[in-house]
Amino acid sequence: MKYYITTPIFYPNSSPHIGTAYTTVAADTLARYHRMLGDQVYFLTGTDENAQKIVRTAEANNMDPKVYVDGVVERFKDLWRALDISNDDFIRTTEERHQRVVQRIFTKLYEQGDIYKSEYSGWYCTPCETFWMENKLVDGKCPNPDCGREVELLKEESYFFKLSKYQGQLLKYIEDHPDFIQPVSRRNEMIRFIEGGLEDLCVSRTTFQWGIKVPFDPKHVVYVWLDALINYISALGYPDGENYHSFWPADVHIMGKDIVRFHAIIWPIILMAIGLPLPKVVYGHGWYLSKDGGKISKSRGNVQDSFALIQRYGSDAIRYFLLREMQVGSDGTYSEDNVVERLNSDLANDFGNFVSRSLAMIVKYREGIIPRPAQDGALEMELKVLSQEVKKAVDKSLGECDPATALEEIWRFIARCNKYVDETAPWALAKQEDQKDRLDTVLYTFVECIRIMAIMTAPFMPGVPGKICVLLGKDDKLIRWEEADRWGIMDFGIQVKKGEPLFPRIDISRYFTEEGAKNVDENQKESQAAPQERGHEFEPIKEEISIDDFAKIDLRIGKILSAEKVEKTDKLMKLEVEVAGEVRTIVSGIAKHYSGDGLVGKSVVLVANLKPTKLRGITSQGMILAASHGDVLEVITVDKELPGGARVK
Ligand code: ME8
Ligand code: MG
Repeated sequence: MKYYITTPIFYPNSSPHIGTAYTTVAADTLARYHRMLGDQVYFLTGTDENAQKIVRTAEANNMDPKVYVDGVVERFKDLWRALDISNDDFIRTTEERHQRVVQRIFTKLYEQGDIYKSEYSGWYCTPCETFWMENKLVDGKCPNPDCGREVELLKEESYFFKLSKYQGQLLKYIEDHPDFIQPVSRRNEMIRFIEGGLEDLCVSRTTFQWGIKVPFDPKHVVYVWLDALINYISALGYPDGENYHSFWPADVHIMGKDIVRFHAIIWPIILMAIGLPLPKVVYGHGWYLSKDGGKISKSRGNVQDSFALIQRYGSDAIRYFLLREMQVGSDGTYSEDNVVERLNSDLANDFGNFVSRSLAMIVKYREGIIPRPAQDGALEMELKVLSQEVKKAVDKSLGECDPATALEEIWRFIARCNKYVDETAPWALAKQEDQKDRLDTVLYTFVECIRIMAIMTAPFMPGVPGKICVLLGKDDKLIRWEEADRWGIMDFGIQVKKGEPLFPRIDISRYFTEEGAKNVDENQKESQAAPQERGHEFEPIKEEISIDDFAKIDLRIGKILSAEKVEKTDKLMKLEVEVAGEVRTIVSGIAKHYSGDGLVGKSVVLVANLKPTKLRGITSQGMILAASHGDVLEVITVDKELPGGARVK
């Protein structure tokens, strides 16, 4: 099978950022996945250089446009290298191989009457590189909800492309091909837009000279979108390049929602007019927003240095974050705090810790030699079934350009593997002479779990498999997609290494007060000292939850106003608690440990959004937190002067 995937070609008017990186990382993940499936893959990205805004930026920097873009294009290539982007080609629209094809198509459309000369009079938004009719403007500004900037009045002789002629044909195509525009919300948006009526598109400019000349009328340059879209076939060597014959039509054009309109309307109509097949999927993902809710964008200037981020956290962690946080059909929020949280919880704690914990046990109990497994038990069978389920789900999600769901599924497997460690308790097996076979099976299963994790995460985090192969004493032939749900692949008798942690934890103490930071450090030390001993005499740690699950719990400071024992019980106490200006009644099972007087005036921690429940006929509106071990119980209180209602997080 062949698989042709493209990103948009980005405007090199300034360095690439986390938003541009998302699209490219998502495309790279799909490309890598398809290579693992054994497909013939062609993955294209590039830069869109013939835009008016490029000239403007270059002029503002007192530079020749070509010299200016040459510099920025290097930044793009550097960033893609730093992020392990595996593109097969990089097209620049200032290249001759592209210009030739644009001129050829422009001429063909003109000769067949689909492009005609007239006069344009209307408005142009340079940041969006888009023409607008006067009646579409909002308060005289660009109507694009994300733009709203000044537009310029244009009145020039122009060529027009007959979009209107193809309106019916395009609608029919979209209706007949439900998968053409994805996800479905974008599809519906496009259908409504087309039904609203297409106007012919102005496709040339005469007021500046930067760009591709109209061959039969060289005072005109080709409008940048008509020029840019053609990159998807010019890069393949249309019309007679070998790659063109092997790879067109594209399997997926992936992009942000801002430019789906151009790809779902103008591009298909160009292709229809010249008689070429249409791409199979136009996929529009959401935007990365900054914490204040605005789109991360060059023109807004809220862009962080992507290179510094990669240096700080590593390409795999940045890729993981970007892919995990953008849910289908919605926007994602980017902040460095969120990156650190994901890195520490999902990567260091769940994934990395499983790997180091389980390898450490093989080193400790079997001198690092993978043992020959004995009989599988019910727990091993459960893992096998789960790996099959998860692989299927990952195949499906990646087939739908949804890496976030695919990662969620993979982490379901990783969570189950961590639970398996606690359930099998190898440290206990190791103490029993007659459990040698059982321990062998468990330790062997650990290695298989690691192998499967390495395979499944490979398209997302290409740096991981190599590191794991080194730990397992194997080469990268171990990483085969079709073996992600097969078991018994690893040889026994091989020497493994404990190695460095795959994902070192980021010290989060700088996010806390001095006092809090000390506690965090101590907890960390403790959990690193004896990971396999964790949960020994204690209740086992519960199934993990995501940070999003945790965020659903609204914890607040509550001030206890009164406290009395509930009649005819010896455990329950009825509290009146002040929180955010309201007084709540809370029934709590602490009566054995506290007298009423001892509680009044204390600031406690309250689960403020717990569904109310009736206890002994009293409605309890929340719950207060207490720590307990054996017979000791203590209500969690805070000493500092904080108002009732203050958030605890
Ligand atoms: O539109 N979140 O180029 P462009 C997610 N040259 N994705 C984002 C993003 C964000 N905050 N910001 C940018 C152009 N992107 C044209 C394309 S294609 C024939 C011509 C990504 O530099 C997203 O893919 O403005 C978006 O569609 C693209 O960058 C726009 O890049
Ligand atoms: Mg843009």
